[in-house]
Formats: sequence, C-alpha cells, structure tokens
Amino acid sequence: MQALEEAQERIEALRRQIEHHNRQYHELDRPQITDAEYDALFRQLVEMESRHPELLTPDSPTQRVGSPPSQAFAKVTHRVPMLSLANAFEREEVREFDRRVHRVLGSSPVGYVTELKIDGLAMSLLYEDGRYRIGATRGDGYAGEDVTPNVKSIGSVPLRVTVPGEFPRSFEVRGEVYMPRRSFQRLNEELAAQGKPLFANPRNAAAGAVRQLDPKITAGRRLETFIYALDPAGGARSQAEILARLGEMGFRINPNFRVHPDIESVFAFLDEWEEKRHGLDYETDGVVLKVDDLGQQAELGFVSRSPRWALAFKFPPEQAETTVDDIKVYVGRTGVITPVAWLEPVLVGGTTVSRATLHNEDEVARKDVRERDRVVIQRAGDVIPEVVRVILEKRPAGTRPWRMPAHCPECGTSLVREEGEAATRCINPLCPAQVREHLRHFVAAMDVEGFGYATLEQLMERGLVRDPSDLYHLSKEQLLSLDGFADKSSQNLLDRIEASKETDLTRFLAALGVPHVGWSGATALAEHFGSLEPLRRASVDELQAVGGIGPVVAEGVQAYFARPEANRLIDRLLAAGIRLASAERPQGRLSGKTFVLTGSLGSMTRPQAEERIRALGGAAGSSVSRKTDYLVVGQDPGSKLERAQRLKVPILDERAFQKLLEEE
Ligand code: IVH
Repeated sequence: MQALEEAQERIEALRRQIEHHNRQYHELDRPQITDAEYDALFRQLVEMESRHPELLTPDSPTQRVGSPPSQAFAKVTHRVPMLSLANAFEREEVREFDRRVHRVLGSSPVGYVTELKIDGLAMSLLYEDGRYRIGATRGDGYAGEDVTPNVKSIGSVPLRVTVPGEFPRSFEVRGEVYMPRRSFQRLNEELAAQGKPLFANPRNAAAGAVRQLDPKITAGRRLETFIYALDPAGGARSQAEILARLGEMGFRINPNFRVHPDIESVFAFLDEWEEKRHGLDYETDGVVLKVDDLGQQAELGFVSRSPRWALAFKFPPEQAETTVDDIKVYVGRTGVITPVAWLEPVLVGGTTVSRATLHNEDEVARKDVRERDRVVIQRAGDVIPEVVRVILEKRPAGTRPWRMPAHCPECGTSLVREEGEAATRCINPLCPAQVREHLRHFVAAMDVEGFGYATLEQLMERGLVRDPSDLYHLSKEQLLSLDGFADKSSQNLLDRIEASKETDLTRFLAALGVPHVGWSGATALAEHFGSLEPLRRASVDELQAVGGIGPVVAEGVQAYFARPEANRLIDRLLAAGIRLASAERPQGRLSGKTFVLTGSLGSMTRPQAEERIRALGGAAGSSVSRKTDYLVVGQDPGSKLERAQRLKVPILDERAFQKLLEEE
C-alpha cells in the first residue's frame, strides 16, 4: 500500500500548493512562482490523479468544472443558470423520454434534433454590440469563472460577429471547449520530450488549458469549440435553425447533427455513432437529444435542474481487460480495511488505470477476484474504476481465492469484523497506520500546511509525535533533524503550527475525528453548543436535539466524549495553547427554527438553501424529527416527506420557502 499512500500524500501536497499559489496570485497579488511553474504543478496533479483515480476528490483544483468557481478567477453569475441534462443509458429510457414529451404536448407531432455530446468543458460566451465580451466556465451552474482572455485566445471563437437581421444588443452563446485528439497527442509528445508529466486525457488537458492564469499558455494548447445554444434565439424557431444561424454568425458548429421527424430514426443515429465516434478527432461520451421546436421546448419547460425537452444518451462505459497484479489492503483513519486491486496499467476511455477499489471482503468474494486473474474493469466518467468481472476462461492455474488477512498489515493486530457489518477493522487504536492517518486528518483539518506524509512518518518513527497534541511541542532542533528540513523550512512549519492554535470550535471538532462528525456535523454542534465544555457534557438526548444530528451521530458523539483517551487528548491540546473562538450563530428572523430539505429545488442548490437558512439564524438539519420546524419539499422528495407528514411537521413547497426567506 506504500505506493498508494505516497501518491495520496503527493496529491494532497500538490492541491495545497496550487490553492496556496492561487491565493497568492489573485487575492494577494504576490505570486511566488512563475506561471510556467504553476502550470507544471497543475499538470502534475492532473497526471497523478489520472494515475490514481481512486484518489480523485471533487474538491480537487482539477475538478473545478461542476464545482464552485475557483477564487483564482473572478466570478461571473450566469444570466440564465447553466443546467445539466437528464441522462439515459438504455434505449428504453429514450423511449420513455419520448412518451413523457408526448404526454405533455398532447397529439402534436414532435421532431427531434440529435447532436453529439462533446466531452469538453461547457462555456458561456457573451457578446455585446457584436463583440466578444465575456467568456465564463459553467462553475456550479449559477456562477462560473471569468476566463475571458483565455477563451479569446481560441482561434475559432469569433471576436466580432455579423448579426443577421434584427438582433438584440447583447446575446449569449453556449457550447463546449475541447482539445482535439491530435493537439492532445502533440502536447503530450512535447511534454514527454521535456521530461514533464503527461496529461491523461484530452478533457483534463483542455480543462487545464482553459483555467490557466496566463492566456498565452491557453493559446499554445490548440483548443477548439463547438457551439450549440443561442439566447435569445433571434427569430429562430427550432434548434436546427439555431445551429444554422450560429454557423452563419461565424461560430463553429458540429456538423454531425441530424433532424428527425419522430423518435424512430433517433435510434439509428445512436447505433451509428456508438461505433463511428472512435474515428473522430474529439471525444464524445454520448448523444444529446433535443425537441427541435422552440415553442414545444418552452411548453415542456424545466424540472428541477434539467430541461424537460432534452436528454443525454450516454454510450456504455468504456471497459478494458487487464491483469490483477496484487490485492493489497489499506488501513484508514478509523481502522477500516479496504482491499484494492493493483492492476497492470491499462488505458480505459483515454485514462490510464492502475488501481481499482474492491470495497470490502464480501465484494471480493462475490466477484471472486484473485491475484493473477484477468479482469474486465470499467470507468464511467470520473468515478472510481471498478472491477466488473473476472474472465474465468483466462484464469491461470493455481490461483487461490483471496482472503482478508487475519492481521493488520501495519501493526499485526488481529482484524475484527462485527456481525452484520461489511467492514473489517483494525481495532488497535495505537496502530501506526491509524495514528498516521489520524495525524494527517488532524493537520489537514487544522489547515497546517507542510506536514507531508514523509514528515509525519519520520516524526512518528523517532517517537517525537504520538498524537496531535505532540505537534504543538516540537522544537526547531527536532524539525532540523528530519530529512529535508533546513532552517527556513523548519521555522515556517513552526510558524504554521503556532498559527493553527488560534482556531474555532467547528474546525477543532472536525479535526478530532469524532465518529460520524464531518464538517457539517461539526458546524451544527459548534453553533448549537457555542463552546466545548457543554458539548463534552451533553447527553444523547441533548445531542439529538441539535438540528442535523440524528440518533446514530448523537450516540457516537456521546461515546467519544466519554472515552478517557479522547478527553486526555483534548486536554493536552488545550494545554498546548489551542484557543477556540466560539461559533456564534447569526441571529435573525429564523433563529431557533430548524429546517430539513428533501428533493431538489429549482431556484437554488441545497447548500445554497442551507446557507440562506443559516444566514437568517435558522438551522438546517438532515433528518426529520418532532423538533423539526419545517420540511422544505422540492422535486422528487424522499422518505422524509412521509415521515414529516406522520409527525405533523409543517411542510413548505419551494414557493412558500422562498417567501419565508424573502419576507421582511
Ligand atoms: S445542450 C440545458 N448539447 O453536456 C443544458 N450539451 O449534461 C443544455 N454537452 O453541461 C445542454 N455536448 O456541457 C448540449 N451538443 C450538446 C452538448 C452538451 C456536450 C454537455 C454540456 C452540458 C452537459 C449536459
């Protein structure tokens, strides 16, 4: 497992560095490295993540598409949110979509347009008086990043357009920015020649290029665009007319679209492109099906975050065959043991895959994955690659079923699997792997930069650090004695440790690693109790009274604070000088009220809704109890709705909720 942990360490270090340099450049105007060096860091991260997709997390700086806009760029609020599409994986779902469309539109005939779904980055381009003004990424759909100069450097983006007939002063087009396969190969060849890390796939390379701080670098990356949306439509009556008009205006449109009189011929298009797509100079991951007539589109409207007039048909996930070199187990912070297949590296859908998680013992047994087996693996989008099945006909002689080791690979303690649990655990609280993971979690949560895996390992080996409180007693001499530490780096680390003492209850709780308590649980507890002492003494009932804290979490928290070792650790941390600013909940109109949300809202995301509740003094909970004041119900509500009805909790629909937020 060593290699995987080292990779994780490196990845985390790169993410911290990149975020640090983003801040230096954009917020503080004090860049500490050149753009080329920044570029190299970003590329290394992209490369590492593609080699270890199991370590990819949504908060990585490389995953900014579909996540809140980076602070490295100015924010652009989209005039109309950039929505996503409902997905279909089976042809039957396409039929179902057509039936739904017909149910809404009655007996009128419905024509469709099919377009290839380009695997790039969604972009919005704003034009005023015929001139290109703003280019923005999708971001979280509501606000994106202002990458105006970068987009401007893409050759196929017209800087001036001749606007046909009567057209409004300002209009917006949307489409995809992508890197042609050929440019991607050339870029990787250049990087290889310079001994630099390579990009794993064109999409990553394009994302990296668009999100450059220096537009000159973007320009060198040979990006391309396909534009498919125009708003306002300027007299066009159908999607096909929009595409034609976009073409006349000088935008680059994808020629591989087709107009269909009804759903029947759509299937032929899907079949055709499932094969033909491999011959294109760009990657497509599916087909977008759109109701052609704009009037019908308007009639169909939107459900939650997707238009009801369009559907993304996804081609089946890309699979590949490879060999399992080894199955190793990884010990996490809480002692949970995860088996991971180490694979002979193989290219799947443009990404090299060398690890696949096997989740737990039962999963390995169910699939009967063995060392040296030939297996089919698959990846769909950015999810962790998985082993689909073993190719039994190719199983070599003499393999044996995989068995969960009886002992922890790191400390030798007997592993334990409780009745009815899928997880196998190392229950030795002093297991070096757990201690190390715990320390890593602690320094990450406390935002102490510069504690790498190797540093913690050395500190542990020398007996200088056994638990997080020891970090606060390290001396400069001790740090200087470690590999790779000089005078300046030791002092920097000490300064950062010192700075982390000034913290708040939320961060402290999250850093402790209380069972089941992540950032949102820590926030809820900190806001409710205000300070540490009452929380330490709280009963299960008192804990359950906190909005967002259910019975399991309440039990876990109470049990944690009842443990003598936990109390000793907390006392030692406080004695070391950690000071906790109390988390004060803003007072407001909703003070004392607890809201629970179910289903999706059309006008805001769930985190946005929770933020607004909190800003007005209210609390956002995750499960419905008698103490819940309101259940807010969006599209496709879950079982919370029934529970709320049973408990007679007042129910608000989106409109009523909006009114409550807005009333003065
Ligand atoms: S139409 C209301 N057309 O797929 C959304 N999208 O899941 C209208 N995409 O974010 C999108 N090719 O980035 C549309 N020909 C195409 C597309 C396309 C790729 C992407 C786009 C969007 C995502 C939808």
